[in-house]
Amino acid sequence: MGKSQNPLTQDAKTGNSKTGISNTENSKTASQEIATLIPGGVNSPFRSFHEVGGHTIFFKDALGSKVTDIDGNVYIDYLGAWGPAILGHSHPLVVKACQDAVSAGAVFGAPTLLEMEMAKSVIRHFPSIEQIRFVSSGTEAVMSAIRLARGFTGRDTVVMFEGAYHGHSDSVLGSTTHQSSSGVLAGTKERTVLTPFNDLESLESTLNQLSGQIATVIIEPVCGSMGVVLPEPGFLQGVRQLCDKHQVVLIFDEVLTGLRVAKGGAQALFGVKPDLTTFGKALGGGMPIGAFGGRRDIMDALMPIGEVYQAGTFSGNPVTMAGGIEVLRLLDNDKIYETMEARTAQLFAGISKFVSARSLPIQLQRAGSMFAIVFCDIPVKNFTDSKRIDAERFAVFFHDLLANGVYLPPSSVDAACVSAAHTERDIEETIEKVGAALKKAFA
Ligand SMILES: Cc1ncc(COP(=O)(O)O)c(C=O)c1O
Repeated sequence: MGKSQNPLTQDAKTGNSKTGISNTENSKTASQEIATLIPGGVNSPFRSFHEVGGHTIFFKDALGSKVTDIDGNVYIDYLGAWGPAILGHSHPLVVKACQDAVSAGAVFGAPTLLEMEMAKSVIRHFPSIEQIRFVSSGTEAVMSAIRLARGFTGRDTVVMFEGAYHGHSDSVLGSTTHQSSSGVLAGTKERTVLTPFNDLESLESTLNQLSGQIATVIIEPVCGSMGVVLPEPGFLQGVRQLCDKHQVVLIFDEVLTGLRVAKGGAQALFGVKPDLTTFGKALGGGMPIGAFGGRRDIMDALMPIGEVYQAGTFSGNPVTMAGGIEVLRLLDNDKIYETMEARTAQLFAGISKFVSARSLPIQLQRAGSMFAIVFCDIPVKNFTDSKRIDAERFAVFFHDLLANGVYLPPSSVDAACVSAAHTERDIEETIEKVGAALKKAFA
């Protein structure tokens, strides 16, 4: 698709779209003041620059592939709000749908037809989903799916994979997860067992050892928090078979991969059908969303039919539903996936040339439009490999890109995202700047 035909950039009122940085003094001052009011100056720790150093950047608006900070600097954005901005920022049709919904009544605490339409739409996109419930974040979706699996099976233990991130409910904050935490009951931690990603033998031995105690195996089919790690051929199929053998509920956490790696998520890409799936991020068009769904017999265990409690004042609220319906409608167009694939492939081809010419210890890992430029001497296949990632060099790379108007996640392990609004020109400019930043990082 030629640049001028892209419906997502045509409407973009990017007026001041020249990328590059003059100074970030306003962000610096704001980051100092906000730290006196909000712990660490952020409402979610990954937003802070604790890994890369320096002060955070405050954004004031965003459109398409660009974000503008409070000093007026424009960046090509690859954070994508950590996943939601799949169509780019502020897509006019999504904005309009949400505005209309706010005007009609932002929240009723009672069913609306929008919930029904959204449910139909997700069910149409994901054949494994027979029934779905909407919540307000990926964390809530995971927490609810795990409780549901426990209630359905009458078992307690959760198996998850080292280095995975499933949000911040207690059951998924283990010591070798992407994020651990104090304040979690010892008894809860004991009920979560960790096993290495891409290692069927270890999973099998865990399932054998704890046979009859395991409620669920929860997995990110592509790990987004240890360098975008793909499942090796046959791994997800093997996980499915082992879950069947032990009658364990298999949950695919597709909060990040859901609409991103393919139209039907990782389950379509790899051809494996989970029992339950969790969603979030891109599904809501930028509005706070989560969802979990799957087999009807399992979903029937939820109240008011069954005995598993799960609720939420803002669950399925009209504004989020309206945004989500519009996103799913727009993503129904295969051309959008072709564009995202082409742009991400273009980006990796350009960076790869530079990396190979200099034999740099960089791994380019991606699934669809989620990608990572991994500062590691070996391909990262699991959590142990990810510990070799050179965070210090990444910090130099990150700051050089930032200073030149390219915004990446401030983390050496988390997935970056290409959106449907990124243009060929954005990618060309990024490749050039990545080359310069790599030179600096390896000087
Ligand atoms: C795979 C995965 N699961 C769950 C979550 C938690 O979602 P939220 O941040 O919306 O609570 C995330 C967020 O990064 C995620 O990537």
